[in-house]
Amino acid sequence: MKVKSIRGFHDILPENIKRWHLIEDAAKYIFELYGFSEIRIPVLEFTDVFARSLGTTTDIVEKEMYTFTDRDGSSLTLRPEGTAGVVRAYIEDSMHAKSSISKLYYTGMMFRHERPQKGRFRGFYQIGAELIGPEEPASDAELVAMLWRFFEEIDLTQFLELEISSLGDQNCRPQYKEKLVGYFSPQKNELCEDCQRRLETNPLRILDCKQKRCKEIAADAPSMLDNLCEDCENHFDSVKENLDSVGIPYKINPKIVRGLDYYTRTVFEITTDQLGSQNAVAAGGRYDGLVNELGGPATAAVGFAMGIERIILLQEIALPEGFGKDVNVFIAHLGDEARQAAFTLAFNLRNKGISVETDYATKSLKSQMKRADKLGASYTFIIGEDELKKAVIKVRDMKESSEEDIKLEDIINSSDKFKS
Ligand code: HAM
Repeated sequence: MKVKSIRGFHDILPENIKRWHLIEDAAKYIFELYGFSEIRIPVLEFTDVFARSLGTTTDIVEKEMYTFTDRDGSSLTLRPEGTAGVVRAYIEDSMHAKSSISKLYYTGMMFRHERPQKGRFRGFYQIGAELIGPEEPASDAELVAMLWRFFEEIDLTQFLELEISSLGDQNCRPQYKEKLVGYFSPQKNELCEDCQRRLETNPLRILDCKQKRCKEIAADAPSMLDNLCEDCENHFDSVKENLDSVGIPYKINPKIVRGLDYYTRTVFEITTDQLGSQNAVAAGGRYDGLVNELGGPATAAVGFAMGIERIILLQEIALPEGFGKDVNVFIAHLGDEARQAAFTLAFNLRNKGISVETDYATKSLKSQMKRADKLGASYTFIIGEDELKKAVIKVRDMKESSEEDIKLEDIINSSDKFKS
């Protein structure tokens, strides 16, 4: 029987890797402009790190974690997200003692045992950023602006909408939750089974339910934004003012609740209407209580993560087919002597920073031209007996479909022109 990959896990193949690099390079470029440094943390943590961070009644902790018992009996979990591990590292490495502000970004695979569908995997990649230390609203706005700038950099904002809201804090959210319970309780029997349970455990999640009847009932529910305490309201106003001042377009969506329990105040999502139900491309928010919750000093923080696979799906709509095929030169050769000349020329051109492909065996010109085409070569060099005698190369510009003979020494001396 042939071996196969696990359901919900996937390979990223060489033909797609250029798209991945484009995203990763743009994130690195933009995030570092904003003062963020990369952190690499383990994929495996004690289960407790996630259970205490994300909330024991969240879908992730209740049913989606890949958890197993280690040989010594300790419970370990493959990370379902990056924030908890980053905060664990922040505390363990005493980063608070080194600087009052830590700006960290990360990229890597996350694991959630969800039902796989388009844009939803069990093993998927995130790029995330965490800004730990400041509580001022300018830090929320800077982070959101950075995220939007990233999407501008990779030219996808045409498909995206930034939605923001506030979830309040420990002063105003408990009262709001009570109001919600008061609102939903008389209609409890009409709610789906999950929401009936959420009414006891986490009534905010009812606002997020995708079931038709729950949605209808939730439409008229009281809004968190009408129930913020003064401090939270001022914070939210200031975040919006800061975003306005740099022209970041956003929509206020009071129904954002997020699937993790650590959030306080600002929450945001970047959504698209191009991917069906998996419409969140990036999401995050403020989590002022988490560092303390995990045993560190009381420290404010705000962050986000984006799903790379979902960004790739958008890129496939936005970028022309054949993107990432970027061999500069293909050298076709006819005869043994020409093959040897091609081998040397390829070596010399690569030393000058030109990407070159050539065949190892002697094949027909037709089959070599086919391969040049497939590789998306910008130029094809042809070396035959005639060319060898005259010490020239027949250079075909594949875009212009033009051909000219160029002296071998001129090719080496002005090789830069073949870089594009
Ligand atoms: P999250 O909303 O759970 O937040 O995930 C962030 C993003 O990861 C989603 O918007 C989505 O693009 C992607 N994603 C999530 N699950 C899957 C999946 N099964 N398949 C493919 N993509 C997925 C967090 O993870 C928080 N840690 C974000 C954060 C950082 N908040 C503060 N700091």
